[in-house]
Amino acid sequence: MIRFDILTLFPDMFQSPFASSVLKKAIDRGVIRVSVFNIRDFTTDKHHVVDDSPYGGGSGMVMKAGPIVEGIEWIKSTNGSPRVILMTPQGVTFNHGEAIRLSQYDHLLFVCGRYEGVDERVRKYIDEEISIGDYILTGGELAVMVVIDAVSRFVPGVLGSGTSVLEESFADTLLEYPQYTRPRVFRGKGVPEVLMSGNHRQITHWRRKEALKRTLVRRPDLLEKGNLPEGDLALLEEIKREERKENDS
Ligand code: ADE
Repeated sequence: MIRFDILTLFPDMFQSPFASSVLKKAIDRGVIRVSVFNIRDFTTDKHHVVDDSPYGGGSGMVMKAGPIVEGIEWIKSTNGSPRVILMTPQGVTFNHGEAIRLSQYDHLLFVCGRYEGVDERVRKYIDEEISIGDYILTGGELAVMVVIDAVSRFVPGVLGSGTSVLEESFADTLLEYPQYTRPRVFRGKGVPEVLMSGNHRQITHWRRKEALKRTLVRRPDLLEKGNLPEGDLALLEEIKREERKENDS
């Protein structure tokens, strides 16, 4: 079981992502738990102010430290001792490895930044900062949904049994091989013969080769990073030989 707590100014945004499909089932089964808290509920002033203009001037608004820190401390005092994560484009870039790492905690608390940023003094209460990519979203809410979705897949019991998350893309630094399902012919296009052969050894070999081919074309950077097993290196040579032959003819 893993618990995800979220501190946000826009709790409504979190309704649909957890209300269908895999994550809904995981919540219903009790293998993940998602709780959303409104930062505005932790204000102490009459007008429930959550942001203010920046000291030193400049455009836009900055999220006040008080309500965020009060929220973090309240959740900690009532809900355990979560790892506190601030969603911000200035954070460490999220990826497959980070998803596996975070899935090993039993309690994460995400703080969603908005507007032009959060008061710098909040950082003292944050354990780590995460970005989901080099672009600016209007806030951390969508980023949290991405992270929770990706992390949940590595929590035991979230995916059906028999689904091996370690067999998939990026686990071994290869892109997925092409997949086909019925009909056998779609608009004149058939399915590779080998997949109909019933020969599992040949199918495994074909899939591995296609995964390597696809990775070589689309993401050669993954092959440079990876320490490929001996068999893959031979397959890569075979692929390159075939390519040269094709180019020559
Ligand atoms: N908030 C705004 N942009 C973001 C990003 N790219 N990742 C995480 N949080 C964000």
